Amino acid sequence: MAITSHVFSTSEALADAVARKLSEHVSTKPDAVLGLATGGTPTIVYEALARDYRSTDFSRVTFFALDEYIGLPPDHPCSYHHYLWHRVLKPLGADPARVFIPDGMDDDRQRAAARYEASLEASGGVDLWLAGIGHNGHLAFNEPGSAFDSRTRDVDLNPVTRQANARFFDDPADVPTCAITAGLGTLKAHAREILLLVRGLDKAAILDRALNGPVTEEVPASMLQTMRVSGYFDQAAMPRD
Ligand code: PGA
Repeated sequence: MAITSHVFSTSEALADAVARKLSEHVSTKPDAVLGLATGGTPTIVYEALARDYRSTDFSRVTFFALDEYIGLPPDHPCSYHHYLWHRVLKPLGADPARVFIPDGMDDDRQRAAARYEASLEASGGVDLWLAGIGHNGHLAFNEPGSAFDSRTRDVDLNPVTRQANARFFDDPADVPTCAITAGLGTLKAHAREILLLVRGLDKAAILDRALNGPVTEEVPASMLQTMRVSGYFDQAAMPRD
């Protein structure tokens, strides 16, 4: 399946294009289902949404997050619950009953994963799902070697991922070692369209492998070649000839 790429010369233009697409979608479908990503890349989109698109009514939108650390309570400043509620869900007036973030605090991880999968199933599918990619090609927290048919589950984080995310923590040793993530098969089954956001020169090589290399579980994001994807990239992330 073809990936439609949009390339922007500034972060502001990229952020506005994605925020506008989400907002226009919700304007035409007030009970839309949207998927959210976390990490450094989408923050500019959430800032643009919160700043410029607050007049759109997001109160009937159902939101799914891709993943959550295991062991960080929802009010921990580095948890993805906290990240999403503060940066996007609260500013947009999301209804807590329509927000589904994997539960990293449930002792029974399989139960938490099954609950999340059941909510996704009941939602009827995610119209637009934001996603980024890791330097090692991970998609959500599906690290290299994850099966393309994997479902929501607890995973060990790759050292590359823990190192990359250490910038968000006071002490690198505090980065959790495991997480609960939507699986690659989960995304394939439920995401109608992925909005792939990639920024920065440091992502250019892995973006090239994901989009143009072999489709292999060693590069989980290469699965995107088999899905409907709109790419939003900055110039720096584009592969050089
Ligand atoms: P980043 O993370 O946006 O913080 O680079 C992306 C990812 O790990 O998927």
